[in-house]
Amino acid sequence: MKLWIIGRNGMLSRALQRKCREKGIDFVATSRKEVDVEDEAALKAQFETLHFSHVINCSGYTAVDLAEEEKERAYALNAEGVALLAKLSALHKKKLIHFSTDYVFDGKEKEYHEEAETAPLSVYGKSKEEGEKLLHKHHPQALLIRTSWLFGKEGNHFVKTMIRLMQEKEEVHVVDDQWGRPTYADDLAEETLTLLDDSGIVHYANHGETTWHGFAEVIKKKLEEKKVAFKCQKIKPISTKTFDAKASRPLSAILKTKRFSPRHWEEGLEEVIDHVTQP
Ligand SMILES: NC(=O)c1ccc[n+]([C@@H]2O[C@H](COP(=O)([O-])OP(=O)(O)OC[C@H]3O[C@@H](n4cnc5c(N)ncnc54)[C@H](OP(=O)(O)O)[C@@H]3O)[C@@H](O)[C@H]2O)c1
Repeated sequence: MKLWIIGRNGMLSRALQRKCREKGIDFVATSRKEVDVEDEAALKAQFETLHFSHVINCSGYTAVDLAEEEKERAYALNAEGVALLAKLSALHKKKLIHFSTDYVFDGKEKEYHEEAETAPLSVYGKSKEEGEKLLHKHHPQALLIRTSWLFGKEGNHFVKTMIRLMQEKEEVHVVDDQWGRPTYADDLAEETLTLLDDSGIVHYANHGETTWHGFAEVIKKKLEEKKVAFKCQKIKPISTKTFDAKASRPLSAILKTKRFSPRHWEEGLEEVIDHVTQP
């Protein structure tokens, strides 16, 4: 068994590479520069020359707000790139694992199981939904893992943004009417490695539902407990409407994770805060 991890410097990809090293799983990880998923010839060459049994696609156009202006770029990777990967993986008889998001749902139902109807509100969500459909159209045996609110030791994400803002400002404004399940990239990576021969759709998110504001309050509490210096005195709750982001987001797209008993996201948060605040 050898994994080809697509994405080398991304948040999830770095977590997966770490878990493979810990478990002694053979893998190769490629950056966009090395193998561009939007470049059919580069992908074909990779399938013809590299020996691997599984493709784990950690690449993605993940800039949710920017996608509203860069629709073509979002679709080129999140939909057309996934279709190319699915076709080539099926042709070469490779297992394919791909990731998607809670943003394929509109949030009107509050909770979503794997078979729930998708109805994305944003360009990012629509491009990911299209990728989901193309994945299984071209590779019915592929595994799709939906996850939500990722944070990790690497990459750019809410936890790092909050720590920076709390260190810079006395008052931080955070949306308090969007609900979700934060997910620690290392936990998702670990679980992914148990699913290598699965197919279909699964949801994975850490235990515990919160709002972005609730998430920020816990980050602040952990910084206090760990005696990390910061300036913030108040985290002011604001509405999605007041925040006025370019892309619409579901107000409550809680992923139901019936197959798993994940630990609480606060435990992963501890690890990330220790990692990013260490001198
Ligand atoms: N972040 C979240 O909150 C979240 C939530 C739910 C689902 N997801 C999904 O989880 C997956 C991983 O997300 P992430 O947050 O880890 O992403 P990320 O940190 O933004 O990393 C994106 C990765 O995509 C690679 N990439 C970009 N364009 C590429 C191209 N044309 N060809 C090949 N590789 C390319 C980058 O390559 P380099 O290594 O060269 O930089 C990078 O490794 C995505 O499918 C995302 O939609 C994310």
